[in-house]
Amino acid sequence: MTHSDTALTQNQLDSFWMPYTANRQFKKDPRIITAAKGAYLTDDQGRQIFDGLSGLWCCGLGHGVPEISEAISHQVQQLDYAPAFQYGHPKAFQLAEKVTEFMPDGLNRVFFTNSGSEAADTSLKIARAYWRKKGLPTKTKLIGRIKGYHGVNFGGFSLGGIGANRALFGDGVAADHLPHTVIPGNAFTRGLPATGAERADDLLELIALHDASNIAAVIIEPLAGSAGVLPPPENYLQRLRKICDDHNILLIFDEVICGFGRMGANTGAAAFGVVPDLMNIAKQLTNGVVPMGAVVARQDIYETFMETGGPEYMMEIPHGYTYSGHPVACAAGLAALGVLQSSGLIQRVKQMSGYFEDAVHSLKGRKYISDIRNFGFAAGFSVEAAPGEPALRPYQVAMDMWKKGFYVRYGGDTIQLGLPFISKTDEIDLLVEALGDSFNALA
Ligand SMILES: Cc1ncc(COP(=O)(O)O)c(C=O)c1O
Repeated sequence: MTHSDTALTQNQLDSFWMPYTANRQFKKDPRIITAAKGAYLTDDQGRQIFDGLSGLWCCGLGHGVPEISEAISHQVQQLDYAPAFQYGHPKAFQLAEKVTEFMPDGLNRVFFTNSGSEAADTSLKIARAYWRKKGLPTKTKLIGRIKGYHGVNFGGFSLGGIGANRALFGDGVAADHLPHTVIPGNAFTRGLPATGAERADDLLELIALHDASNIAAVIIEPLAGSAGVLPPPENYLQRLRKICDDHNILLIFDEVICGFGRMGANTGAAAFGVVPDLMNIAKQLTNGVVPMGAVVARQDIYETFMETGGPEYMMEIPHGYTYSGHPVACAAGLAALGVLQSSGLIQRVKQMSGYFEDAVHSLKGRKYISDIRNFGFAAGFSVEAAPGEPALRPYQVAMDMWKKGFYVRYGGDTIQLGLPFISKTDEIDLLVEALGDSFNALA
């Protein structure tokens, strides 16, 4: 592909209202990606750029995995679409079973969506509907956590806890929020912070306020990604699980980032030793190749819907998407999860996470870095704010990195890394060295 094949007119640039993007800045100085292979992106200048966030946390296997492209291309020829409602196709059932192979025991009923945002809203609706089915219709209140991210749909943004994502949109659905788990004394902790489990006890305060008879579910990311990689304090998730159990509240893990290997385990639930009642997945499910998400439910939650569904010809939950379980997404998912199983890459992430941890923490002391956090192949750096502009320095760091041939995520006052699972030690060294230089270059 030549540069002229990919050159864009101003009108083309203007026509696309880009998501989660500073459109004005981007269109003045576009960063256009035209190809990708393995751990590298190619830009429209032909430069090779290390993919330090695996796309958007979704391409852990690297780009251009032949098994996935072959599966997709075969699927399009065989069956390009099948109606998702009241009719089925084999791969949706096969992928559902495959997904359960990665899940903790008991989580084995899979409801397909097309994104993490749809998974969030689906899980919240399942939770509310479940309690109605159980004869407890007042259990509707939903509880999220400050600094949480559950996508952009109405349920997800309401339960999410990143202020900047909420400010523009007015009322969402009724929600309350637990405090986040970032404690100043824990700055520069490697892996899970030793203190902070008691922040789970704030759920008791919310229960005292709302009464458990009115609360349907708590939704959290086991490790919060978008807020800048916040690993859970030791025992925090265990405590939350116990409080939910004691008060008959469903616990939803949003594992859109944690699921399928990034934590060095099949799921965050496995990595941290706590099993939720519902788990949301997306991103790594198809290695990012075709949009897809899902909610994985405990079997007895599914059974509750079946048992209370009325006559057998009636649907048990009026919910789903035209593209739920899309054949092409299912083909991609089956191939991606097959490669994930056969490649040993999850084990590799676990083995190499110590190397990555040492590397990222070596940046302690660089200009303006106020915290470094990590787990598995995820790391986050907090950046001291420039006067009045908390998001400026991360943007400057990311732009400098891009120029140097490294893609990293900048969000809020953080820089985030989500390595491809195939990353090599020398690539980690180069990435971290470049990042340190970019911090040092800040004014
Ligand atoms: C934890 C979590 N949940 C939900 C989402 C939303 O997923 P999507 O962008 O596919 O809608 C994301 C995306 O980053 C996420 O990290």
